[in-house]
Amino acid sequence: MQEIEIKNLGELPYAVEEAMNRLRINVGFMGSDVKKIMVTSTTPNEGKSFIAMQLFAQMARSGMKSLFIDCDLRKSILSDKYGMTVTGADGYSAFTARPQRGTSYCLSHDGEFDDCIYRVKGIPDAYIMPNTDNIVNPSMLFEKSRFSDLLRYASLKYKYVFLDVPPLDLVADGEQIGSKCDGAILVVRGGITSRNMAKHSAMQLERAGCPLLGIVLNRVEGAKGGYYYKKYGGYYGKSKYYGKDKQYYYGKNK
Ligand SMILES: Nc1ncnc2c1ncn2[C@@H]1O[C@H](COP(=O)(O)OP(=O)(O)OP(=O)(O)O)[C@@H](O)[C@H]1O
Ligand SMILES: [Mg+2]
Repeated sequence: MQEIEIKNLGELPYAVEEAMNRLRINVGFMGSDVKKIMVTSTTPNEGKSFIAMQLFAQMARSGMKSLFIDCDLRKSILSDKYGMTVTGADGYSAFTARPQRGTSYCLSHDGEFDDCIYRVKGIPDAYIMPNTDNIVNPSMLFEKSRFSDLLRYASLKYKYVFLDVPPLDLVADGEQIGSKCDGAILVVRGGITSRNMAKHSAMQLERAGCPLLGIVLNRVEGAKGGYYYKKYGGYYGKSKYYGKDKQYYYGKNK
């Protein structure tokens, strides 16, 4: 298995790190049956990939063997954005390049799943299947038994499998993928996603038979007088997690 370096995973501000830590612990409380976790949102740009990537990294750092699968096959930019490079990509140990094989290759070819999975450098229990080639209509790939086989294989080999997917209201991929997962975390962007939009996404997940594990309120503007604001300045995004009991934060219970 090849090793991949993720250069831009970055250090998080203290409060964001803490929120991610709480999210990791809450996911751990969901029980051993919850292994395949889709991270989704209603609309683009709410922070799905950010949350999925950070949660995955934290989980692995805490010793939980985890796999991240980039299932945004239409417009994934993760490999470039996070600066993912593989050393010895073409057989020369000093040569680094973008990974050559990822999710769309894996789903459209036979062969070992491990050919498209990379060990993450510097994080012993982290493994990733990046997406290297975007495609126009991935629905057919998610319908094929090869995708179900991949998830079955991954859930036997890893403690957690995190799936980063496109937004629910644009394409059907999220619902299709969710129907094969143990649950979903819905990322909601503070001040942008309305209650009705979030409720609609919750309905879509229910229809797909994918339990809503919880909601992450992300990219919330910091309260300027707050302790963390004073201590760390106005960092860009805060994340807050609402577990199962508060999943109707956007609905009638609020
Ligand atoms: N909590 C956060 N703190 C700091 N930056 C964040 C946070 N959440 C998201 N971002 C940034 O916001 C931008 C959008 O996030 P991201 O790409 O994760 O969204 P997305 O929902 O995956 O988008 P898309 O629907 O296009 O896949 C990125 O530049 C990301 O780094
Ligand atoms: Mg994304």
